[in-house]
Amino acid sequence: MCPFVCAIFLLCLSSLSTAAKFTQVYKWSEMDFEWPSEATRTQAMENGTYNPKKIYPRYMAVYGTRIFLSLEKLAGIPATLVSLPTSSASYAPPKLTPFPSWDLHLHGKGDCEKIQEARGLEVDSVGRLWVLDSGSDKCNSKLWTIDLNNKDQTKLMHRFSLRGLMHDLVLDESTNGTFAYSTRGGAWSEYKFNIFSKDKNESWTVETQEVEIFSIAMSPKKEQSGKLYVSSLNWKELFSISIAALRNGTRAENPKPIGHWTEKPYRMLMDNRGTMYAAFRWQNHTTSWNSSQIFQEQTFYEVVELDSEWPFTFALDENGIFWMTACDEEKKPICRLFKAAVGAKSYLYWDPAEESILSTRLHNILIVSVIFIILISLVFIAFWILQTKKWNDDLSENINDTHHMKILKSCPN
Ligand SMILES: *[C@@H]1O[C@H](CO)[C@@H](O)[C@H](O)[C@H]1NC(C)=O
Ligand SMILES: *[C@@H]1O[C@H](CO)[C@@H](O)[C@H](O)[C@H]1NC(C)=O
Ligand SMILES: *[C@@H]1O[C@H](CO)[C@@H](O)[C@H](O)[C@H]1NC(C)=O
Ligand SMILES: *[C@@H]1O[C@H](CO)[C@@H](O)[C@H](O)[C@H]1NC(C)=O
Ligand SMILES: *[C@@H]1O[C@H](CO)[C@@H](O)[C@H](O)[C@H]1NC(C)=O
Ligand SMILES: *[C@@H]1O[C@H](CO)[C@@H](O)[C@H](O)[C@H]1NC(C)=O
Repeated sequence: MCPFVCAIFLLCLSSLSTAAKFTQVYKWSEMDFEWPSEATRTQAMENGTYNPKKIYPRYMAVYGTRIFLSLEKLAGIPATLVSLPTSSASYAPPKLTPFPSWDLHLHGKGDCEKIQEARGLEVDSVGRLWVLDSGSDKCNSKLWTIDLNNKDQTKLMHRFSLRGLMHDLVLDESTNGTFAYSTRGGAWSEYKFNIFSKDKNESWTVETQEVEIFSIAMSPKKEQSGKLYVSSLNWKELFSISIAALRNGTRAENPKPIGHWTEKPYRMLMDNRGTMYAAFRWQNHTTSWNSSQIFQEQTFYEVVELDSEWPFTFALDENGIFWMTACDEEKKPICRLFKAAVGAKSYLYWDPAEESILSTRLHNILIVSVIFIILISLVFIAFWILQTKKWNDDLSENINDTHHMKILKSCPN
């Protein structure tokens, strides 16, 4: 009986975690910016600062009713950081609004006080958008924060003492302060990554021995022994690094091998339940891995006939929605935006109150199961008692019969 009840119980549980269902939110056959006027747009196209055929989203963050995208910096991209609404009543897909303003982009070529090239994006637990800015050949790389709950107040948080292509960042909000871990790379390999400590107001690099660092993800905030996950641009291995030592200021770490991806990941993201999502170069699918289990990839989402080096970018919002763009460099629609309710939130989201609601729910499921088991057992016992009684009756009837026969036999004819 127990295996049967347990099987039902497990079935109920697993149906709670079935694969995500994506719906399409927007589809663009051409992306465009929200220009101050048609004249500015025409002028920008004529003078070469704008080329509508070259807009590719690379990084994403979502907060409230806004989506933020970093665009690949190509000639003809006047702003590398844009926003768009999470929903629109219009049939036409929304245009991209330079964020936080046109002023921080278009006129900023060579001006190191402006955003040169936005790359990795993260929203922290108080609604600040962190923007990793590669800088340019004249300007150092930077970290910006934009307070999404406070009129998009923009702050140049940090100027790194280096230049050149930045890739991605993750945040670590610990009791010992807030840290931003960022990686670099593009055409070349880096055997190190950067740490910025907000409280110390300084950054430093951590050498990673023989391990090349490119994509980066962070374990859920609630996990006591936090881990940084890293992968390279040229190999398929996944490594982890303990965060305790990083917070403590170590300058060298030996990453621990975790497993092998099927391909080379360019983006990784972890949710607050410890599921890691990954996207790969030249691959038409994203995969996921439940980090509470041994390393094993599962296909998360596959798009028909997708042909691009960086097809996907994704983010989790604070409402349990997984947002993802799938873009094609050759065919139309050039980009699509999908969403799916996965129930899990960003790794930075940890609400102990919610946890207790969840444990109350699990508690309730357990109580219901126990009652169910007791009821089934009672039915079984009742059945068994009835059966036994019937069997006893039959037996005593038989004995009576035998007795009769004996009496009959002993009867003289
Ligand atoms: C090109 O046109 C845009 C839009 O008017 C303007 O802001 C920008 O300064 C111009 N750039 C050059 C190099 O002329
Ligand atoms: C952080 O350090 C920079 C110099 O590296 C300085 O200009 C800035 O004012 C400091 N910020 C804070 C909040 O102390
Ligand atoms: C942090 O650094 C201090 C001094 O450098 C050392 O005593 C301590 O053990 C370190 N803690 C961890 C968790 O590495
Ligand atoms: C971090 O904070 C905890 C207590 O909140 C403390 O025990 C620990 O030593 C701190 N670690 C560092 C590296 O400062
Ligand atoms: C991940 O695996 C653990 C351990 O097997 C399981 O308890 C948890 O429900 C799984 N998480 C998801 C989201 O399926
Ligand atoms: C995805 O790509 C693989 C090989 O690159 C191909 O076999 C598969 O059919 C593609 N899937 C879809 C849905 O297009």
